[in-house]
Amino acid sequence: MKLTVLGAVALPIVAAHSVQERHNFARQNAAAAPASSSVASVAASSAVASSAAASGSVVASGSAVASSAAATFSSLPTVSWSLLSTNPTAVPISDLVPGTLTTQPQLGASTTFAPGTQPTVISNAPPLPNWQTLSPASYPTLDRAPPTDSPEVQQWIKEVNASGIAIPNLAPTQPGGCAANPQFAADQSRCWWTCGGCVRDSDISDCPDPYTWGLTYDDGPALYTPNLLNYLDQNDLKSTFFAVGSRVISYPALLQEEYMAGHQIAVHTWSHPAMTTVSTEGIIAELGWSKKVIKDVLGVTPLYWRPPYGDIDDRVRAISKAMGLEPIMWTRISPTATFDTGDFNVAGGTTSASQVLQNWQNIMGNVSTLGHGFIVLEHDLFAQTVDIATGYILPDALAFTPKLDIKPVISCLNKPMSDAYLETNDNSSNPLPTASSVNPTFSSGQTGSAQATGNTSGNTATNQSGAVAVGVSSSLFMAGVSFVAFFAGLAVLL
Ligand SMILES: *[C@@H]1O[C@H](CO)[C@@H](O)[C@H](O)[C@H]1NC(C)=O
Ligand SMILES: *[C@@H]1O[C@H](CO)[C@@H](O)[C@H](O)[C@H]1NC(C)=O
Ligand SMILES: *[C@@H]1O[C@H](CO)[C@@H](O)[C@H](O)[C@H]1NC(C)=O
Ligand SMILES: *[C@@H]1O[C@H](CO)[C@@H](O)[C@H](O)[C@H]1NC(C)=O
Ligand SMILES: [Zn+2]
Repeated sequence: MKLTVLGAVALPIVAAHSVQERHNFARQNAAAAPASSSVASVAASSAVASSAAASGSVVASGSAVASSAAATFSSLPTVSWSLLSTNPTAVPISDLVPGTLTTQPQLGASTTFAPGTQPTVISNAPPLPNWQTLSPASYPTLDRAPPTDSPEVQQWIKEVNASGIAIPNLAPTQPGGCAANPQFAADQSRCWWTCGGCVRDSDISDCPDPYTWGLTYDDGPALYTPNLLNYLDQNDLKSTFFAVGSRVISYPALLQEEYMAGHQIAVHTWSHPAMTTVSTEGIIAELGWSKKVIKDVLGVTPLYWRPPYGDIDDRVRAISKAMGLEPIMWTRISPTATFDTGDFNVAGGTTSASQVLQNWQNIMGNVSTLGHGFIVLEHDLFAQTVDIATGYILPDALAFTPKLDIKPVISCLNKPMSDAYLETNDNSSNPLPTASSVNPTFSSGQTGSAQATGNTSGNTATNQSGAVAVGVSSSLFMAGVSFVAFFAGLAVLL
């Protein structure tokens, strides 16, 4: 993949100009080529030695701004940060320009595996399938809500029905988040995480042991995932990767590399919608296709998932449970403060890289008060998010005292990696949900009828010209980039 190719593609970015209030998304065309200086700078040492404390006071859209699109974001505030350690080869923060798709040299996949290779990290894992025979035509269109009338989805609907797990009779929410759904937002019985941070016991939001970090990255595999894998490998770190099904089609070899290296692979939906806005059948399609493509590439089916934007309520919980998936969220310390680095929003232009580092500093400042371990939201989708992770966040975490125990979420739960997958789970430490004796009730209220009553025409994956339009109550929740548009842009490169 040539850097110039990526730079030449005009990827539409949707930016939130107002973060704390109601989001007002405006379409920006980030057509300008990324600064060539940002490419060169990856090799240049930052002024900061890895062992030395580093701090900065950075104007996010200052002189480093190299494209007209980025200039739009010059209103981002000056933010200071201070870390215990940074990577000597870190990309300078001033080169991580908000509102652009910064490019860096990409490391290729380091290893490819022959079909039939026996994984060694899980003793009873099946041999690797042959990803080269994967036919995208056998799967739904990338980054679109999968149709629900396919034989596969109809079969999964039957299986959800047959699971005996009751699906609460809750209408899907309207796009626009809490502000657009005042009744649902106020309805405590729905336990909608997005509006107030409600969690159920079945949600995994923390690691039990203090100073343990259940490391996670969302939205890959993607162009810069190898750069992250390289750093993790060098530092003997393992993570949980929440893979988007459509991205697995695009980068199957990368998914195999993650899995074979001992990282945990989990589900992050097919097209990345806000799941509470999606019909019951639509949710079944999103999760079912994601499980299937991961099984087709790895030979194993994940037992864990993360809802995009953390957008989960009791209906979404029940459907995912009926499909054998447990939700992994991220740590929340108050209804409005979660362990979200905000890294995703740098590419969207709504957050500066220095703000991400200050968010991270706040997260670290709260670690010792928790009484348990923690999970943080980060992404391996963009160059900036990977650069921030490998240049700043991970080096800082490695320098933390007391020493942090950094591991995949399944490991921080003190379970073996085999518990992460259907085919390798012996059901002893990770028993699967058992069917209740109650007849399933789908959201139409009619037993056994998989019809949703809510108006789902606002499914974020299919409307608004691809613009994600889920509103937020807090700046910690929402990303500003259109997934559909962004991934459609990426697909051009494949
Ligand atoms: C803990 O987190 C809160 C919310 O992000 C933040 O305001 C506060 O500064 C943090 N505490 C420390 C000691 O960093
Ligand atoms: C674990 O439970 C699943 C679902 O009930 C079943 O298909 C599988 O065979 C069980 N595994 C073992 C090792 O018993
Ligand atoms: C669900 O199961 C019931 C029986 O338990 C059956 O009557 C109904 O047709 C099923 N619905 C679907 C959508 O499979
Ligand atoms: C569903 O919502 C869309 C947009 O919000 C609206 O245009 C449409 O009329 C609604 N349909 C129904 C049946 O309420
Ligand atoms: Zn995501």
